[in-house]
Amino acid sequence: MIALGCDHGGFELKQEIKKHLDEQKVKYIDYGCDGLEAVDYPVYAKKVARAIQSGECDKGILICGTGIGISITANKFKGIRAALCSDCFSAEATRLHNDANVLAMGGRVVGAGLALKIVDTFLNTPFSNDERHIRRISQIETE
Ligand code: RB5
Repeated sequence: MIALGCDHGGFELKQEIKKHLDEQKVKYIDYGCDGLEAVDYPVYAKKVARAIQSGECDKGILICGTGIGISITANKFKGIRAALCSDCFSAEATRLHNDANVLAMGGRVVGAGLALKIVDTFLNTPFSNDERHIRRISQIETE
């Protein structure tokens, strides 16, 4: 189950992503927002982060204008590894190396065509399970 969240800057791209996931019969829960009216991105980042922490969802996709604020917020939550991606190489690498569980994108940064390729890459790339990556990920949680 994929958790989706956005602010007004990511709303239109989230609609495109929902259509794309529907076509592929990928299940998701949309945690808002629900339109173009200005809202606060941390609210939606927190909903998605909590959905993953609770196990309700296994991955998330977060979109704001830049993807920056929403990923900064999500990364404050224990166990959340949100990767801001604007290209497929990064989306693949962050799954292989970081086992990222949240994809963040900027709705004002990437066009829908590229964004959908990034989503597919992120959702279809498994974690490498390499010992060195497991070790590095475990080091992320401690200061
Ligand atoms: C909203 O205008 C904008 O600040 C937000 O979408 C995001 O880009 C923040 O990082």
